[in-house]
Amino acid sequence: MKKRLFSGIQPSGDIHIGNYLGALKNWVAMARQYDSIFCVVDYHAITIPYDTAGFRSRILHTAAMLMAVGLKPEECKIFVQSHVPEHTELCWVLSTVIQMGHLERMIQYKEKSKQHAENINVGLFTYPVLQAADILIYKAEVVPVGEDQIQHIELSREIARKFNTRFGPIFPEPLEKVSAGARIMGLDGQAKMSKSLGNTIALTDTPEIIHQKLKTAVTDVNRKRRSDTGNPDVCNLFTLHKYFSGSETVDEINKECRNAGIGCIDCKTKLAAHMSAELNPIRERYNAIVSHTEDVVGHLESGANQCREMARQTMGEVRSAIGIR
Ligand code: TRP
Repeated sequence: MKKRLFSGIQPSGDIHIGNYLGALKNWVAMARQYDSIFCVVDYHAITIPYDTAGFRSRILHTAAMLMAVGLKPEECKIFVQSHVPEHTELCWVLSTVIQMGHLERMIQYKEKSKQHAENINVGLFTYPVLQAADILIYKAEVVPVGEDQIQHIELSREIARKFNTRFGPIFPEPLEKVSAGARIMGLDGQAKMSKSLGNTIALTDTPEIIHQKLKTAVTDVNRKRRSDTGNPDVCNLFTLHKYFSGSETVDEINKECRNAGIGCIDCKTKLAAHMSAELNPIRERYNAIVSHTEDVVGHLESGANQCREMARQTMGEVRSAIGIR
């Protein structure tokens, strides 16, 4: 029997290469090895201000992108969190086994509280408990995530442990699988790639846009003139070369940058070509998929039906364990 895998992604708009390298690419690589479930977490997304008008379409488009990067609805389950109400139901029960003090230590909560100081709602605080419920409702054991989510998975383990100790052994303790490309910097070279900072390359960007964006991207800041030698070790674009270009190109650039044999402009043109080669098929599949959103809706419905069945079963066990049934 395959172990169960669960992961989630927020429907927060254009998915970018940071999401791709930090999570999605890894999901595709792992999906078939496990009994895999992938979820568009719409209830998590409403903990920060958002536009209700485009929300449903962002949810569908996010699901479409999961399929475009290579997750196949026949090989794994893909669904929308709010379609399976047991997630929020279990969240309530789990919120009674974890202490406030524990949630107050969550880095993402502290960061988001700073970013949204005018709206530190209770949902922002209990966000990691809903995340634990997402995982535990399916008794998933493996959770592929980016580096920034490690603390939340540790908390999920703590919640599982606390629940099991008090009510009996129902939940396995889930383990995170962090991908190699877990922390991709934005084109400004300053902060993590993030939609809200506008420093991204989206998976839907055309080769022209990719090249255009790379032209303005920050490289080794100490290399001011073409004749200056550069240092690939501090260049964000060299990091991206490692993910998108073959080892031959990487070796060549590593050498030629250091002796000023290649300039940043040519280096960027090469990167744009390699990146486009990898992203083109994804963009094309995406465009084909979103031209038939009724199919996406159908896949999500069938995913939700299968997940609801499993979630109901776990909730039944939870209800008996806590003594209400
Ligand atoms: N919090 C995750 C993120 O921002 C998304 C998420 C929600 C998730 N529930 C999850 C990830 C469960 C893994 C497992 O990336």
